[in-house]
Amino acid sequence: QEVRIKDQYNRPLRDLRISVIDQCNFRCSYCMPKEIFGDDYPFMAESELLSFTEIVSLAAQCTKLGIEKVRITGGEPLMRRNIPQLVQKLSALNGIRDIGMTTNGVFLVKYAQALKEAGLMRVNVSLDALSQDIFQEMTGRTIKVGVVLRGIDAAIHAGLEVKVNMVVKKGVNDGEIKPLAEYCKKKGITLRFIEFMDVGQTNGWNFSKVVTKKEIYEKLQEIAPLVPVEKAYFGEVASRYRYDGTKTEVGFISSISETFCSSCTRARISADGKLFTCLFAERGYDLRELLRSNVSMEDIGQRIEDIWNKRTDRYSEDRTEETAKNRRKIEMSYIGG
Ligand code: GTP
Ligand code: 5AD
Ligand code: SF4
Ligand code: SF4
Repeated sequence: QEVRIKDQYNRPLRDLRISVIDQCNFRCSYCMPKEIFGDDYPFMAESELLSFTEIVSLAAQCTKLGIEKVRITGGEPLMRRNIPQLVQKLSALNGIRDIGMTTNGVFLVKYAQALKEAGLMRVNVSLDALSQDIFQEMTGRTIKVGVVLRGIDAAIHAGLEVKVNMVVKKGVNDGEIKPLAEYCKKKGITLRFIEFMDVGQTNGWNFSKVVTKKEIYEKLQEIAPLVPVEKAYFGEVASRYRYDGTKTEVGFISSISETFCSSCTRARISADGKLFTCLFAERGYDLRELLRSNVSMEDIGQRIEDIWNKRTDRYSEDRTEETAKNRRKIEMSYIGG
């Protein structure tokens, strides 16, 4: 029987974001700036990563606490070998009704079919520009945007539900809002605009680099009027709209201008097995140590329940220029967004 656990602000535990690797083949400036994540960056060793068996045991315990939704993240999750095998094990768990992945799309041409067959339902593909130059500036690499576009097509072809995530940085890719919106509208893909956030220690964030939901919303009026759409579930991060007269949606993830901590039902597990109760948490709880000791899975489940019961995180609601600058924050590539 499922326990419906609640944290200190009465928020249930619903979504589990599992990072499977801290590496990525891109160097997006807002996530893994290449000045910091250079050739000698100490990424996790293979032995530090949770094994698929360990991940699945944790997820199984979490389903007993209320987790219904699992998302595989990275770094870039498809840089880890045999991910379809992990998807298959996770989708076989009782109680999981939604399983998705957040990816940069580069390896989708290769893996979309296998992922779908393994039970993956959806992919959220990060794509910040259609223009080759701006795409390469955003990703910090020379991989061509066409690779990602073909990845998106492969995912659609395989029968995966696809959404595109666009992080907007003022003065860098804001000119791409309209081209990307038109591209996605034509294909019937949901595009979600993400306000640039102050994650990590290194991405040079400040308020002046954020393009807000309101600004983007106004820009989209040049394409078509927007009609609000109800949230699909309690705690959905995106506020949703559709283009009038169509079924095609756009979303806004406005963690700066309209925070959504009060309905935050997400827990995160890093690739080395630490549990985080907020994207901006200063520390995680080492579950790997427990997994690799004599502690029983039931006791680990109990530990997770205790951690969730004590949870008081609501970073985005308390954010100021000061906390954004001074708080010690974990890197996005470590925690998976
Ligand atoms: P769906 O299930 O498709 O709605 O996925 P999602 O939007 O929850 O996940 P995705 O990985 O696509 O994340 C999109 C953006 O939302 C990323 O920039 C995430 O960092 C951000 N995001 C997701 N969850 C949270 C959260 O709890 N807090 C904050 N501040 N941002 C979040
Ligand atoms: N601000 C907002 N979104 C970010 N992402 C990575 N770093 C940031 C940031 N600083 C997004 C990625 C991906 C998702 C997991 O998080 O683009 O879509
Ligand atoms: Fe890689 Fe995604 Fe981070 Fe870009 S945002 S560096 S694609 S993990
Ligand atoms: Fe949840 Fe923390 Fe994001 Fe608020 S800032 S929505 S508590 S992850």
